[in-house]
Amino acid sequence: MSNPFILGTGSFLPEKTVTNVDLEKMVDTSDEWITTRTGIKARRIAGPGEETSALAAKAALKAMNMAEIPPKELDLIIVGTITSDMSMPSCACLVQEKIGAANAYAFDINAACCGYLYSLDCADSYVRRNPKMKILVVGAETLSSRVNWQDRNTCVLFGDGAGACVVGGPLTNNSGVIYSKLRSDGSLAHLLSMDSAKGMNPDLNNANNTDSCIQMAGRDVFKFAVRAMGEAAQDVLEHEELSLEDIKLVIPHQANIRILKSLSERLAIPEEKLYVNIDKYGNTSAATIAIALDEANRAGRLERGDLILFCAFGGGFTWGASIVRW
Ligand code: ACO
Repeated sequence: MSNPFILGTGSFLPEKTVTNVDLEKMVDTSDEWITTRTGIKARRIAGPGEETSALAAKAALKAMNMAEIPPKELDLIIVGTITSDMSMPSCACLVQEKIGAANAYAFDINAACCGYLYSLDCADSYVRRNPKMKILVVGAETLSSRVNWQDRNTCVLFGDGAGACVVGGPLTNNSGVIYSKLRSDGSLAHLLSMDSAKGMNPDLNNANNTDSCIQMAGRDVFKFAVRAMGEAAQDVLEHEELSLEDIKLVIPHQANIRILKSLSERLAIPEEKLYVNIDKYGNTSAATIAIALDEANRAGRLERGDLILFCAFGGGFTWGASIVRW
């Protein structure tokens, strides 16, 4: 049996649920449209005091509790997020303070919906360099704060939440992140973007804040996501000479059920191996995979030694896939 890499998982979702029927009262949409086009039925929305770092800290404490690693034993905190409470300090530093991880250093990774995938890969590299390191990896977002709630094209898609895990070593070639293919293409930045609020705006009197909300060319993103995520997943399997029979669970970024169905057809993923929870939470960006992993773990769907295939895509564009030994 190889050494476990992921020592504990946790997740936290805000209590407030906004259903498609609730959205029908806010924009010109319908439960039927949202369900058939996206697979989303509800999403969680953060309330007062539930900034990204607060959600992240709650998920982190659950992961540390499962791993039986107290905050002071953490060496590093990496948070994948595009909705940090503020530009500086990082969300990771705010989480450090909230959980009392006084001996860690901390930084964020901005890779949109690939944030958790990139962060996990980064943590694996640190652990290989220093097998004694204990690292907290978090994917956390409050996209509700950056969505234009008058724009039916985007507001129906996103939700808030956080997922976390604690990782450690020592690792062999056959444990941890077995293989990753991570990519980005900045030339496609304009298809999915979110300006920092006012930061680059010379018109300081402009009160219209909708420019800093998420902007998306939905169809282009959709087409790219299906192809890029599928290719990355195929590439990592081929590189390791593995087939889906060797994979216990495929945990893709949860953006749209139709994207997941296309992925599943392309790779011929058996239904029971594809993890789907988009109906409950919508797209929580960097948090989707982290939340799904915690759910799958707590539901007893993973045993030590199992292989998991993660794949994601997001703004940047960023995309990729990883095979991880549980
Ligand atoms: N309710 C009702 N009608 C709507 C809604 C809505 N919420 N949103 C759009 N429509 C309308 C459009 O206005 C359009 O009407 P028209 O034909 O009269 O112009 C019609 O529905 C079709 O619109 P499309 O954009 O073609 O619909 P599509 O089938 O492409 O679905 C969707 C839109 C769900 C956004 C899809 O393109 C998609 O999921 N894209 C990928 C999104 C995604 O994954 N984003 C990732 C972001 S992750 C990150 O990095 C943060």
